[in-house]
Amino acid sequence: MEDTRDMNIPQSIAIIMDGNGRWAQKRGLPRNMGHREGCKAVESLIEDCARLGVKYLTVYAFSTENWKRSEEEVSGLMQLFRYYAERLLKKAKENGVRVRMIGDRSRFPEDIIASINKLEAETRDNTVMTFVMAANYGGRDEIRRAAMRYAEDVSQGIRKKGELSEADFSEYLDTAGMPDPDLLIRTSGELRLSNFLMWQCAYSEIVITDVLWPDFDKAELLECIKEFNGRKRRFGGV
Ligand code: IPE
Ligand code: IPE
Ligand code: MG
Repeated sequence: MEDTRDMNIPQSIAIIMDGNGRWAQKRGLPRNMGHREGCKAVESLIEDCARLGVKYLTVYAFSTENWKRSEEEVSGLMQLFRYYAERLLKKAKENGVRVRMIGDRSRFPEDIIASINKLEAETRDNTVMTFVMAANYGGRDEIRRAAMRYAEDVSQGIRKKGELSEADFSEYLDTAGMPDPDLLIRTSGELRLSNFLMWQCAYSEIVITDVLWPDFDKAELLECIKEFNGRKRRFGGV
């Protein structure tokens, strides 16, 4: 068992959970079996992060681009969410975790929107950690929606034209009130952002691992945190 006492645990971790499809393909299984295993990895991760003292864990579950996938894969993912929503609620309650969803939920079926709302409402007072799920999320779409809301506030006279700080604009993003990720992890070796948290990750430390998402466990997480601990963050200074 690794000793984590000397580790500097990042306050906010974001993860691009990639490689479910390849995990399944390698085993001759349908892609959705990879997603199913991926959900199990998320469940353990929530508990591990909450126990380690992470305050915000954000995972990329479904992008605005993922609708391009086959109808079979998309509906399989929806089914999986339906099944996991109840488990997630239980896990969140057991671990004092608050659940929040970012992304445009309006495109999901009604019953899924209802269970997202329920997850948020029933965990809103939990304080150990915030688990943020990005679903139908795209960084560009989030900024676009924020800009529309801001423009609306200006036209209503709630905001003054010509005055907008970065902090003000952040309040229009789905992540309003949450700290930016200190550490961004991507699994499966892919070296891109794929439209994830583009505003918020401006100064995040990026760690890429070749491990496919369903194989990502606590040991892998600690490896990523170790790599993060070796980084010198300068934020543009010297
Ligand atoms: C990530 O795994 C999960 C989702 C995007 C929903 P992928 O499904 O992208 O897996 P690969 O990249 O095809 O292996
Ligand atoms: C990013 O993975 C989205 C999620 C993990 C939900 P993708 O597999 O969709 O990204 P690309 O297509 O490889 O860029
Ligand atoms: Mg992928």
